[in-house]
Amino acid sequence: MQQKMGRRLVIFPLPYLGHQNPTFELANILHSKGFSITVIHTRFHSPDPAKYPHFNFHFIEDGLSESEVPFQDVISLTNTLNNKCVEPFKAFLSQILTDHGSDQEPVSCLITDVMWYFTQAVADALQVPRIVIRTGNLSSFTAFFARLEIGDKQPDDLILELPYLRVKDIPRVGNLGMGGQSPLQHLLSNTITQTKASKGLIFNAIEELEDRSMAITQHEFPFPVFPIGPFHKCISSPPRNLPTQDQNSISWLDSQAPNSVLYVSFGSLAAVDEAGFLEMAWGLANSNQPFLWVVRSDLVQSSNGSSQFPDGFLEKVSGRGHFVSWAPQKEVLAHPAVGGFWTHSGWNSTLESICEGVPMICSPCFGDQMVNARYVSEVWKIGLELEKGAKTEDMEKAIRTLMVEKEGEEIRARAACLKNKASICIQPGGSSYKHMEDLVSLIMSF
Ligand code: UDX
Repeated sequence: MQQKMGRRLVIFPLPYLGHQNPTFELANILHSKGFSITVIHTRFHSPDPAKYPHFNFHFIEDGLSESEVPFQDVISLTNTLNNKCVEPFKAFLSQILTDHGSDQEPVSCLITDVMWYFTQAVADALQVPRIVIRTGNLSSFTAFFARLEIGDKQPDDLILELPYLRVKDIPRVGNLGMGGQSPLQHLLSNTITQTKASKGLIFNAIEELEDRSMAITQHEFPFPVFPIGPFHKCISSPPRNLPTQDQNSISWLDSQAPNSVLYVSFGSLAAVDEAGFLEMAWGLANSNQPFLWVVRSDLVQSSNGSSQFPDGFLEKVSGRGHFVSWAPQKEVLAHPAVGGFWTHSGWNSTLESICEGVPMICSPCFGDQMVNARYVSEVWKIGLELEKGAKTEDMEKAIRTLMVEKEGEEIRARAACLKNKASICIQPGGSSYKHMEDLVSLIMSF
């Protein structure tokens, strides 16, 4: 660790794994720069403090009842948490600001997930600067804040205001609810308004990969924007908050030929219906390629809650299919046997794949995933997109194209170039490195 800065940062991650992990990675980076870290977290999805002994943890009562959680989707749950956490969050923050004790450094600023929109009013009331972190990329964020006139445009029409994106890549705001707004509208409009009142915006992203979206974001937000990703490559082996991992997938990969295995995983939240699951299974079986498939216990939305493989499937893939309920994904993607990644296009998965030069097959499900898939397939050209409703034949064709055909080789070569860019940007003189220095200067100016 560098010299101590004599400042404390209060970090408040959103309690979903895809947000929590990159926020902890950012906290680790800032800790390595000499800042002390206090993490505030909810009871819901609380992290394991033992994995981060160098941070202080404080949990606030989120007021969610156990029966409430299964009946809300992620968007509604995020709005609910934004309502319920106001008072406990304010009470703790005001305590740590006024009574930091002789052994604790004064608080310099608050860093919260962009979707913790209620925290801006608390920060204003307590006169503490707030910086926000968007754990996704710049381009999906532009899609969230653009006020678009879709009019009579068709799903495949390009949107002029947003580089490369089509109408169907933009998240749909859904049915009306809260005060005439859909839950997603409510979440997005509050997120954007409160972000505009903050002091800075951090992205787990790489400026060179999204220069047009960077320009749009800088135009829209009147303060510094810091794309300082990829976080997980900025410091060595940060401790992570992940479910128990199946190391046996690595020993299985050790027995496979270089670039031969397709890794299949849909992150921590996305689910497929029974019919889609069967199409995937037969797509993998018919492609005749080796694969490592993460089948989470909640991957399939089925009537009986189980993911049942179709008759004859396991016999057909015997010896070339390996199944786990959770994998050490970063290690898997870095393994020489892995030649492709069939993903739901969550941003962490996409960035991790870019960092290892692994080309992708994208099956986006919701939220930012359509934008990520579009950039992978059409902008960076490091993967193929499977449209919603893709059938077994489409899947089989995409797998074979990526893993064994000439087109796949070209895609892999472009993925290797992007891996190089992702590695250079965090070295001295690189874009993320420079933005990181600017972020530290901003924090020190408070
Ligand atoms: C959520 C949203 O769904 C996604 O759209 C958004 O970009 C981030 O928040 P999630 O669905 O979990 O995230 O996907 P993703 O962003 O890809 O993150 C998954 C993380 O879990 C990755 O860091 C990945 O390495 C890890 N993972 C996943 C494992 O370590 N093992 C697994 O078996 C599966």
